[in-house]
Amino acid sequence: MSSKIIALIPAAGTGTRLGDSLPKQYLDINGAPLIVHTLQALARVLRIEKIIVVLSPEDQHWRGLVANGGSAWQALSARVETINVGGKSRRDSVLNGLNAIEFKDQWIMVHDAARPCIRSELVEQFIDELENDSVGGLLALPLSDTIKLDDGNLRVAKTLSRENIWRAQTPQMFKFDLLRKALTASPNATDEAEAIEACGHQPKLVMGDSANLKVTYATDLKLAKMLLSES
Ligand code: C5P
Repeated sequence: MSSKIIALIPAAGTGTRLGDSLPKQYLDINGAPLIVHTLQALARVLRIEKIIVVLSPEDQHWRGLVANGGSAWQALSARVETINVGGKSRRDSVLNGLNAIEFKDQWIMVHDAARPCIRSELVEQFIDELENDSVGGLLALPLSDTIKLDDGNLRVAKTLSRENIWRAQTPQMFKFDLLRKALTASPNATDEAEAIEACGHQPKLVMGDSANLKVTYATDLKLAKMLLSES
């Protein structure tokens, strides 16, 4: 079965942890806004039919990106649409995005705008692993660090087992109807998979990549610049 997939990109965050007034998706990485790198990687995946970016209703920066984006934007413009329906949380932005589109039985691939180092080849593998799955799934990485539980006073109460523990990444991909129903019922979900789990399903774990980092802190931005200059 060959699937047509809609990519939904939550990009309505303010990125306050980076300490910059510009939302992190618009910070410069090697001459282009961070989100342009994310969109370029997804646009290379031809099984993605359309890329829909969820912006904040107050977004002040997308227009400038389009106006000044030059050939990088020209190449993307045919594949990318925006909707200004972002909400208070990431979950709200994704759900508002789903409520603003209507795709019925389609696969929806949610990918954070803030993960610009995603590789197109990894997205292709991810789709291969999931397109015939009955639930859907997510990229994730087995934990490599030792995990400590604190006692509330910066003292270790206990070392936890890291066996079978994974760190969730994006993309995460589920069918439109199931995902919308699940997110509607899970107001506090921090990712799509959590909402799907709460409906009694078991999302599939697909091996991710440590380079697929989410830009959150200044060091992540430096790392993303290095990784993207190499590729
Ligand atoms: O804040 P965090 O790094 O977890 O955000 C992950 C992704 O979700 C980012 O691409 C961000 O723009 C998006 N987001 C959103 N709406 C929010 C908060 C975050 O679209 N209210």
